[in-house]
Amino acid sequence: MDSIIVTGGTELKGQIPIAGAKNACLALMPATLLSDEPLTLTNAPRLSDIKTMTLLLESLGAEVRSMQEGRVLAMSSHDLNNLTADYDIVRKMRASNLVLGPLLARAGHAVVSLPGGCAIGARPMDLHIAGLEALGAQIELKDGYLHADAPKGLKGAVIEQRFASVGATENIVMAATLAKGSTVLKNAAREPEIVDLVKCLRAMGAQIAGEGTATIEIQGVDRLHGATHPVVADRIELGTYMIAPAIAGGEVELVGGGMDLLPAFCEKLDAAGIVVTPTEKGIRVSRSNGRAKAVDVKTEVFPGFPTDLQAQMMALLATAKGTSVLEETIFENRFMHAPELMRMGADIEVHGGHATVKGVERLKGAPVMATDLRASVSLILAGLGAEGETMVNRVYHLDRGYERVEEKLSAVGARIERVKGE
Ligand code: UD1
Repeated sequence: MDSIIVTGGTELKGQIPIAGAKNACLALMPATLLSDEPLTLTNAPRLSDIKTMTLLLESLGAEVRSMQEGRVLAMSSHDLNNLTADYDIVRKMRASNLVLGPLLARAGHAVVSLPGGCAIGARPMDLHIAGLEALGAQIELKDGYLHADAPKGLKGAVIEQRFASVGATENIVMAATLAKGSTVLKNAAREPEIVDLVKCLRAMGAQIAGEGTATIEIQGVDRLHGATHPVVADRIELGTYMIAPAIAGGEVELVGGGMDLLPAFCEKLDAAGIVVTPTEKGIRVSRSNGRAKAVDVKTEVFPGFPTDLQAQMMALLATAKGTSVLEETIFENRFMHAPELMRMGADIEVHGGHATVKGVERLKGAPVMATDLRASVSLILAGLGAEGETMVNRVYHLDRGYERVEEKLSAVGARIERVKGE
C-alpha cells in the first residue's frame, strides 16, 4: 500500500485547481440508469471511487466511456441486462446504494447489497428504504441484499424525512422523476451536490422544483432523455486546500468553486484569523498573522459546517492559539484522526461527539495511519505545518477522494512525495 511523506515547514504559494465534486459525480453517474439515451458528464474527477461506480454501472449492463483522461464520462444505459448490484463492488463504497432508486424507477426491480464505505458510523439505509416504500416499492432484506420491487411502477407521494440525508434525498428524487404523479420531499438535503443532480435531471427532461431548499417537488414524467452536464466543483476538495495555507502559511488561490459552496466553513476560517477573499477564478486564502485562533465548530447539514471538513479543521485547530471544541453531529464515530494527530503532539480529548483541542505551538512529524478518506488528508495537512517528516501510511482511502494530492500540493511548494507500496 502506498504511503505519503510530508516534510513540514514550507510556506505555500501559487494556485491549486479544484476538480469536479466526487460526491456529485457519484450521484450523477447512476442517473444514467434512468434513461435509455446517453448521459455525458464533463468536469468529472479522476478518483478511484469514480472507477468503482464505473465498474458497478458496467456490471448492470451500462456502458461507461472515460474520455479526456477521465475528465469526461460518456455513459449509456441502453442495454441494462442485470438488476443486481453485487456485494463485491458495493462493499467498497457506500455511494453504490445510489443505483437503487434509478434501477427501481426504470426497471421496476432492483437487488442492491447493503453498502460498506468509510468506517465512520453505522450509516443505515432506513431513510432510503422508507422513501422508496412511500413511492410504492416493496423492499425486503434477504442475505445482506435489499430486494426492491415495483412491478406496476412507482407512484408519487408526500414524504418527510426524519433527517435530511444526502443519499436518501438523491435516491428518492431520482426515483420520483419516473413515478406517476407528483412527489413532495420534505426535509430534503440542501447540499450543492443535490442542486447539481437536479440540474442534470432537469436537463434530462425531469420536472423538479425547490432544489437547494428543504422541500423538493417532483412531477413524474414518462421517460427521461439524454443530456450533457458539467459536474459542480468539489467543495470538500476546495475546503481541504483552503486549510493548507492556513496551516503552512503563505497564500494560495483555489481555482474553481466559490465561497457560496462553503458558507459556514468560510465564516469559521475568518473567525480563526485566516484571510479568505473571493477572486475572479475562485478563492484566495492566506495566513499572514502567525498561528490561527481557536474557534468552536459544530458539523451540520448544509449550509452548516460540513462533516467532511471536520478532520481537516481539527488539523488546523491543533496548532491554533487557545482551546477549540469540535462537535460532530452527523456521524457518531468520526474522530479517528484525533489519536493520529495526538501522535504528532496534538492535545486533544474526545468525549462522545465532542473533541476538545488545546492548540499547541507546533506539531512534530511522526508515522501515522490513515483511517478514512477525510482523516487521511487531515494528517497530510497537519504534516505541512509540522516540524520534520510525517509519514502517512495506508493512503488508499485518499485516492478514493483526492486526485493527485501530492502533485497539487507540491505545485504550490509543499514538500510531499508518494512512496509506492506493494
Ligand atoms: C454523503 C456524502 C458524505 C458526507 C455525508 C454527510 C456522498 C457520496 N457522500 O453521505 O461524504 O459525509 O453525505 O454530508 O455524497 N442515515 C440514516 N439513515 C439513512 C441514511 C443516513 O440514519 O437511511 C444517517 C447516517 O448514518 C449518518 C447521517 O444520516 O449519520 C448522514 O448520512 P447521509 O446524509 O445519508 O450521508 P451519505 O449520503 O451517506
